Amino acid sequence: MIAFEHVGKRYGGRFEALANIDFRVRRGEMVFLTGHSGAGKSSLLRLIMRLERPSRGRVLVAGHDIGRLHASQVPFYRRQIGVVFQDHQLLFDRTIYANVALPLEIQGVEPREAARRVRAALDKVGLLHREKALPIELSGGEQQRVGIARAVVNKPALLLADEPTGNLDPQLSADIMQLFEDFNRIGTTVMVASHDLALIARLRHRVLRLREGRLVADEEAA
Ligand SMILES: Nc1ncnc2c1ncn2[C@@H]1O[C@H](COP(=O)(O)OP(=O)(O)OP(=O)(O)O)[C@@H](O)[C@H]1O
Ligand SMILES: [Mg+2]
Repeated sequence: MIAFEHVGKRYGGRFEALANIDFRVRRGEMVFLTGHSGAGKSSLLRLIMRLERPSRGRVLVAGHDIGRLHASQVPFYRRQIGVVFQDHQLLFDRTIYANVALPLEIQGVEPREAARRVRAALDKVGLLHREKALPIELSGGEQQRVGIARAVVNKPALLLADEPTGNLDPQLSADIMQLFEDFNRIGTTVMVASHDLALIARLRHRVLRLREGRLVADEEAA
């Protein structure tokens, strides 16, 4: 599903944020990405999202060298990836329903089909009863779950999350990770960047560890 081949990333032509990164993630795997602040976790995810391009090497997703995608192909490529951020980036003037419906609206999915999918996604994260609420009326953990519903409403084959539990207490963090595991169980490839080492250790998935831009460990699930 994902292959990094000797990938390097420099910002501003000088600073090396990632160096010689080499790994593969198989379709259907769930992988954690960890490392200290500044280790390169977000940079690595941004390369997969094609928000950045590698300075060296290749990033392949589903067999395609995504560094070579034409600019006109990038929006279509991104739509196939679900992305969850730490600050879920909800639109605060729209209802929960409208926030989750947004990706489908952009794609021109027919409203009745869109409604069905939005409700299925909200149901999955346990927030169907809040569809008419505004984000401001929800707790931080609930807002994060809305962000996850929006990320999966397209049924992406690949789900990426960058510190999705950053601001949440341990119980809510565990609940969020449980959701990612649920999506993984039905076949979604999942990659989660996190420095919550205690949580990662409990969940028993493969862990890729970065240190100063290098991949220093690749530990298979216990
Ligand atoms: N757009 C950018 N321009 C210049 N330098 C950048 C840019 N983005 C990241 N960096 C630098 O690259 C290095 C890796 O940053 P990155 O955000 O990937 O780390 P991270 O592991 O996600 O850290 P954190 O845990 O704090 O989120 C850092 O030194 C950072 O300052
Ligand atoms: Mg980061």
